Amino acid sequence: MTNKFLMFSIIILISFSLNAQQKTEKNEAEMETKIEKLLSKMTLQEKIGQMNQYNGSWDITGPAPGDDYNKPRYDQLKSGQVGSMLNVISVKSIKEAQKLAVENSRLGIPLIFGHDVIHGYQTMFPIPLGESASWDLDAIEMSARIAGIEAAAAGINWTFAPMVDISRDPRWGRVMEGAGEDPYLGMQIAAARVKGFQGEDLSDENTIAACAKHFAAYGFAEGGRDYNSTDFSETTLRNVILPPFKACVDAGVATFMNGFNDLGGVPATGSKYLQRDILKDEWNFDGFVVSDWGSIGEMVPHGFAKDKKHAAELAANAGSDMDMESIAYVAYLEELVKNGKVKESDIDDAVRRILRIKLQLGLFDDPYKYCNEENEKSKIYTKEHLEIARDVARKSIVLLKNENNILPLDKKAKSIAVIGSLANSKDVPLGNWRSQGKTDSAVSLLEGLQNAVGKDVKIEYAEGYKLTEGKRDFLHELTIIEKDESQFETAIALAKKSEVVVLAIGEDCYQSGEGRSQADIGLAGSQQKLIEAIYEVNKNIVVVLMNGRPLAIPWVAENIPGIIEGWHLGSEAGNAIADVVFGDFNPSGKLPMTFPRDVGQIPLYYNHRNSGRPGPVEMVFWAHYTDQTNEPLYPFGFGLSYASFEYSAIKLAKNEMAMDGELIVSVDLKNTGNVEGTEVVQLYIQDLYGSITRPVKELKGFQKITLDAGQSKTVEFTLSKDDLGFYGLDGKWVVEPGDFKVFVGGNSRDVKGSAFILK
Ligand code: BGC
Repeated sequence: MTNKFLMFSIIILISFSLNAQQKTEKNEAEMETKIEKLLSKMTLQEKIGQMNQYNGSWDITGPAPGDDYNKPRYDQLKSGQVGSMLNVISVKSIKEAQKLAVENSRLGIPLIFGHDVIHGYQTMFPIPLGESASWDLDAIEMSARIAGIEAAAAGINWTFAPMVDISRDPRWGRVMEGAGEDPYLGMQIAAARVKGFQGEDLSDENTIAACAKHFAAYGFAEGGRDYNSTDFSETTLRNVILPPFKACVDAGVATFMNGFNDLGGVPATGSKYLQRDILKDEWNFDGFVVSDWGSIGEMVPHGFAKDKKHAAELAANAGSDMDMESIAYVAYLEELVKNGKVKESDIDDAVRRILRIKLQLGLFDDPYKYCNEENEKSKIYTKEHLEIARDVARKSIVLLKNENNILPLDKKAKSIAVIGSLANSKDVPLGNWRSQGKTDSAVSLLEGLQNAVGKDVKIEYAEGYKLTEGKRDFLHELTIIEKDESQFETAIALAKKSEVVVLAIGEDCYQSGEGRSQADIGLAGSQQKLIEAIYEVNKNIVVVLMNGRPLAIPWVAENIPGIIEGWHLGSEAGNAIADVVFGDFNPSGKLPMTFPRDVGQIPLYYNHRNSGRPGPVEMVFWAHYTDQTNEPLYPFGFGLSYASFEYSAIKLAKNEMAMDGELIVSVDLKNTGNVEGTEVVQLYIQDLYGSITRPVKELKGFQKITLDAGQSKTVEFTLSKDDLGFYGLDGKWVVEPGDFKVFVGGNSRDVKGSAFILK
């Protein structure tokens, strides 16, 4: 390229990006003008209406009912007293509801329709915790993209996802919805999911608004019991809990949802500190905050508000912009403003935010723009989406153990026994929070294995254990069958005569999710007893785990030669697991959350602080249990491959780093196996001493590297001061000079280390 041409290209590029910038600024200015114009026409009651959100699982398309519950809601929809609805399903219903609002209300402001599209709309992807095990940001973004396309095709314009709550407690049922325990991984995944749902432009017909939830600290529920109180330091809030939320703001997330929990005595929904001071002022977030379901009203049982009216006052003053189903704003805000308890300027601020997102979605240009029956027919549950779901699912699988290379299995094995009722389930793999995923629509493990081997190889199946009885759904408590050995004999006989046993164990998908916390995270029912009985007759066992949380399964880990972590992997689960079982796909997933040996070790997480007595020492006086090790069953970041990888010693460009400089950290990675494989190379740091004690390790980078058998590659990371700082006691970001360690490895435990000084 000639210099002249280069200059010309640069000038074109600069003027192009200046133009684009000017255009965006112009669009934004125009949008703000529109908002102000509309706001000036609105009565106080109409403003409050925008802040009101109703659930729509009542019959929208039928005639207006006369009962006390529904009639007022119809009337409010028509008179502009509802700003949003959730759970209105199908283009037909959404169109009807939109019509009620747009064609009857004085100003015709369109509704925004929200729904929990958590890991797919109808094409189900792995539960988010499972998908996070892929450490594959493109795959994660793609899965959110497809969920967005399908939801938008069904008329929805807003998802209540991603859930970005960090959690260190696998007893908490909602760990299945998040990205696990680590703030750095959580930040990357949060941003990928927001980008996936929202795409490049919210006004595109196939993108939806995302919602970062639950702000904040909901994942820190004491004892892992859902909805419970939370209590932790300000430094933990800033360094561990908030970073994924901030990453969502940086990725342009449209909305936030607050949480059910109280933080040190202040319910998240009533927290001005979180919603106004941090989110809106410090982070300049210009979207809106929706309350969690009924969380405004729940400030009464919390003991924070005297009654619902008081709760409405506290929530509005704290910056909760939209009331999901407490019916507190629509009932009391007008009076509260008139009595001077809530400022009208705060109401205006909330309404501006809500209108802004509606404008960005293009709903004012065409309130029915997402209501396209053709799209609803052609864009949901397509072959292409299912193929991508299979790919994301297999990338999410973690190989936990492969003694004597029991895996991959030979497709021509003489006899394969598949045992365990989970293997035959077409429903459990769909996971909880499955949106419109159809009951029993997944490829079961049994079907997937049979598809892979073809008709000539017979796979025999025995149920082995029964896990649940009665109703299985989102709303009801699951009944686990505690003792049932009626199917043992057949299963044991099958195991005995077979060359190899594939044993599916773990959890029903309704054992995890909202309201599904467990005090025991071992194997429920008679599963453990069955495994031990099978092991007596055939040790050639591959366990496939299906679960929504880390499990404490020390006996399995110790005794079973092959273990595959298969989560709840979605529509294509069985095919994806079969790909790994038979080696058509080489597993590369890594755990996003520590697996404890024992529930008593919880909270157990890799980035803990050292304590003054880390031990071990000869005497008893060190930080440990006398009846259990401190070691996890599987550490954060752990996962094997059918290849094997060797890491060289770490090379540092220098042993010192200037505050404004950079440090290049590299290792040589070699595939020492005999098949191509992919490794997630992880970089951790440790700040050895500081004005507050720092974690023993913190993830600060990762790269997914694919190598042919025998191939080597130098993997390079660049550290800068942004990777070395933390939020201090005053809540401010600080980078302190001093001694650091740096580690690189294939999981958080097995690493190579080196050291440097930050000057
Ligand atoms: C959950 C939220 C969810 C909302 C609406 C609540 O119970 O905590 O995560 O978005 O319901 O379904």
